[in-house]
Amino acid sequence: MNRQLRQTVIAGNWKMNMLTAEAKAFADALAPLVPDYKNWCEVVICAPFVLLPDAAKNFKGMDAGVGAQNMSEHPFGAFTGEICAAQLADIGVSHVIIGHSERREYYGENDCTVNAKVLAALSAGLKPILCVGESLKQRETGVTNDLVSMQVKAALHGVSPDSIRDVIIAYEPVWAIGTGMTATPEDAQSVCAAIRDVLKGIYGEDAAQSITIQYGGSMNDKNAFELLSQPDIDGGLIGGASLKPETFAAIINAANQ
Ligand code: 13P
Repeated sequence: MNRQLRQTVIAGNWKMNMLTAEAKAFADALAPLVPDYKNWCEVVICAPFVLLPDAAKNFKGMDAGVGAQNMSEHPFGAFTGEICAAQLADIGVSHVIIGHSERREYYGENDCTVNAKVLAALSAGLKPILCVGESLKQRETGVTNDLVSMQVKAALHGVSPDSIRDVIIAYEPVWAIGTGMTATPEDAQSVCAAIRDVLKGIYGEDAAQSITIQYGGSMNDKNAFELLSQPDIDGGLIGGASLKPETFAAIINAANQ
C-alpha cells in the first residue's frame, strides 16, 4: 500500500452471520483493541441488512464505516424483498459491497447488474466496494488478468472521473474465499497492479493512483502484514477473520506499516 497516495481500508464482510447481541458485543470489544486506527486506515463493517441500523449506532463511537453486502440496482418501487441505495443511506450506511462472487455464483449477478448497482450506489452517495476475481479454472487457464480487467471495465461503465474516487475495488480470487488458500502476496500484487493499469487507461494516472484496491480471500491475522505490504494492495476485505474482534483487530493493526 501507499498511504501517501491513497486511503487504506480494512473492511469486514460478516456475510450471513451474527445476531443482534453478538454484533453489539463485537463492537464493544473491537473499539478498545484499535484505539488509534484512524492514524493509518479506515475501518468498515459490512453487516447483514437487519443488523445495519444497530451497527450504524454501535460503531459510531469508534467512527467506523458501516456497509451493506448487496443492494438493488433499482430506485424505490415494486421490487418485493429488495432494498435500495437511498434506504441504506437513510440509516447511516456509508459503503456497499457489490458483485461479491457469492452473489455472482448463487444469485445470478452478472457484469451488467453489477454495473447498474455501482451507478445506483454512487448516485445515492454510497461508496461501492466492487468485487472482482477469477475462479480456479480461469486462473489455471491463464486468463486471470484479462478476465479481471474485463470485470472492472464492465462494472465501471459510465462511472464519471469525479465519482471514481468513491469506488473501492476488492480483488477476491474465488478459489481463495473461505478456503484457507490465500493468494501469494506476489500473485495478489500482480493482479492488483493489473487492475490499477486498467484504471489508468480509463481515468488517467493520478486517479488510478488514488483508488483503493483491496485484497480479499482467506486474509487473516497471520498473512495480513505481508499482503498489505505490497505496493498496490491498499487494504483487505475480510470474511471469516472479521467475525472475531481479536483477529479483525490484528488485521487492522497489521495495516499500520
Ligand atoms: P474469507 O476471508 O472468509 O475467505 O472471505 C473473503 C470474502 O469473501 C470477503 O468478502
